Amino acid sequence: MLICHCNMITEKEIEQTIRSLLAADPWGLIVPAKVYHALQQRGRCCGCFPNVVEIIIRVTEEFHQELGEQKAESVTFLDRVRGLRSHREENNEGRQKGHRAA
Ligand code: FES
Repeated sequence: MLICHCNMITEKEIEQTIRSLLAADPWGLIVPAKVYHALQQRGRCCGCFPNVVEIIIRVTEEFHQELGEQKAESVTFLDRVRGLRSHREENNEGRQKGHRAA
């Protein structure tokens, strides 16, 4: 599925990039700009970034579960990130939720 229409980046490319970043540093902070830099792209309209954050959270969670880590250890942190995201969604940033693909 195409996630970034400006740069024509697919979900699979983003997932592979996140996994390679996690392989290099399992506890490194991954943000959309870091993923796009690794892909030698940059955010243009940045409308895809909320979806990229969701992919980062999902792939990071899967990566750490595959490593056999205690589920509570990684999920606690990721739940906190999700909590921050739901708080931000309460503040209307002027974007409609309907535009999101994920
Ligand atoms: S949709 Fe990704 S930068 Fe515009």
